[in-house]
Amino acid sequence: MPNEPSPSDPGSLITDSAAPAEPRRRAVLGGLLAVGLVSLAGAALVRRAVVTSRRRTFEEVARRAHDASQALAEGQITIAGWQRALDSIFQEVSPDELSESIDLDALLARTPDVPRGASVLTLAPDLPGGPLPGFATKLFVLRKGRANPPHAHDNMVSMHYVLRGKFRVRHYDRVRDEPDAIILKPTIDRVIGPGESTSISENHDNVHWHLAESDGVLLDVLRAGLGDLPTETHLVDPVAATPLEGGLLRAPRLPTVDKALERFG
Ligand SMILES: [Fe+2]
Repeated sequence: MPNEPSPSDPGSLITDSAAPAEPRRRAVLGGLLAVGLVSLAGAALVRRAVVTSRRRTFEEVARRAHDASQALAEGQITIAGWQRALDSIFQEVSPDELSESIDLDALLARTPDVPRGASVLTLAPDLPGGPLPGFATKLFVLRKGRANPPHAHDNMVSMHYVLRGKFRVRHYDRVRDEPDAIILKPTIDRVIGPGESTSISENHDNVHWHLAESDGVLLDVLRAGLGDLPTETHLVDPVAATPLEGGLLRAPRLPTVDKALERFG
């Protein structure tokens, strides 16, 4: 989870790809990365990769997702409503249309490989009035065998949509936090492909973990800072978890992104 430090873009560690390599920059919001776990490099906004009508599909999807996020922020819809809205928006387009509209192949050609985790590109759709604080659209580019390590987010909703490739995606409900661990309830463990997505919220499936079963690309749409509260990211290790009654897991926290990437990325 990476990116350009910005108050409106929850911290993340971004590997940029569309721009020349920059010195390592750590985007921090609320003390921790909040979106993607990726190798650090730089950050970049990919603006108008294609300044033509081809871009329209992505722009329209992003505007509708932004509208839903605004409605959520204003209390007009619930978190579940936001998730349904995003599902509906993305069902009306195909992954190929979306990929073409952002000229994905050209972006990937300029995306350097990273040794662990994902390369992350922040897309910057042209939104009337500018983006809401905390709204972001990003691409996660992963090589086969690489992963976005398991982690939880505070005060955030996000959806990861498969543009290309296959991913084993695992989610867990975040039952409760402990100082050294998070108590998890496994909820989703399946392989998803182009056009399929999962999402997180405070209420359900808060912990997510994507493992690339082939080279692949995820489109992440998120709204952080819900309720004007900070979004932080919490790294956990479900594999080293202690089983509890009722199918719950006591997953120890991982202290740093580097540790998480070393173990899972
Ligand atoms: Fe995440």
